[in-house]
Amino acid sequence: MSNNTALLQVTGLQVAYGGIQAVKGVDLEVHSGELVCLIGSNGAGKTSTMKAITGLLPCVGEINYLGRSIKGQGAWDLVSQGLAMVPEGRGVFTRMSIVENLQMGAYIRDDKPEIAADMAHVFELFPRLKERRSQMAGTLSGGEQQMLAMGRALMSRPKLLLLDEPSMGLSPILVDKIFDVVREVRAQGVTVLLVEQNASRALAIADRAYVMESGLISLSGDAQTLRHDPAVRAAYLGEAA
Ligand SMILES: Nc1ncnc2c1ncn2[C@@H]1O[C@H](COP(=O)(O)OP(=O)(O)OP(=O)(O)O)[C@@H](O)[C@H]1O
Ligand SMILES: [Mg+2]
Repeated sequence: MSNNTALLQVTGLQVAYGGIQAVKGVDLEVHSGELVCLIGSNGAGKTSTMKAITGLLPCVGEINYLGRSIKGQGAWDLVSQGLAMVPEGRGVFTRMSIVENLQMGAYIRDDKPEIAADMAHVFELFPRLKERRSQMAGTLSGGEQQMLAMGRALMSRPKLLLLDEPSMGLSPILVDKIFDVVREVRAQGVTVLLVEQNASRALAIADRAYVMESGLISLSGDAQTLRHDPAVRAAYLGEAA
């Protein structure tokens, strides 16, 4: 597809920590309405890629969003342009309540009635959060914090949502819940870039996928094709080659 149809286009991305090159020239693009996943083993460079895209790490290369460079822009600028990220490890405001965290997610907005409606929607997606709405986020379980982090990102009404391992450390039931919500959010028109260790689940819901290995994209294509690719099955889906 041509460059000008990509919502997010990353070209030649490199990230280094001191002398260690963690991302070695990654190209990827996400088109409006797509659910794209980025899979790969521990240490492949997935989080570094996401952090570079969202301005949390210095990098080499180009990052275009809506046709313009967003390189080096911080979370505030990105969220106000419709790009929200749920980081690995969640990053909720621990000394604020659930409701306050969700309100923080909407800080760029001034359409009060709609903010209230969106909070009601988040509570529909995650009834658990509604039950505990006044509880301090720091006292929530890991899974509840993950739901809150996703809810908070949704409160900004993102065009593009970047999720870094939303299912990490969760019980099987919560993993199901998170994948259901990702699917639902996408069905509502949000474009999603999903980083996941859980390759099988991610490929099952994605349109396209990128496989990352040692700082490079080793494979990419249609998610269902990759899901049935013997090399992918052997390396990431725990099956014999
Ligand atoms: N702050 C840091 N300082 C030095 N090296 C780092 C730092 N953060 C990450 N790295 C290294 O960069 C490489 C890529 O790490 P990254 O976190 O991007 O991988 P990942 O694909 O997200 O892995 P995981 O699936 O375990 O989350 C790893 O070798 C890691 O040790
Ligand atoms: Mg990671």
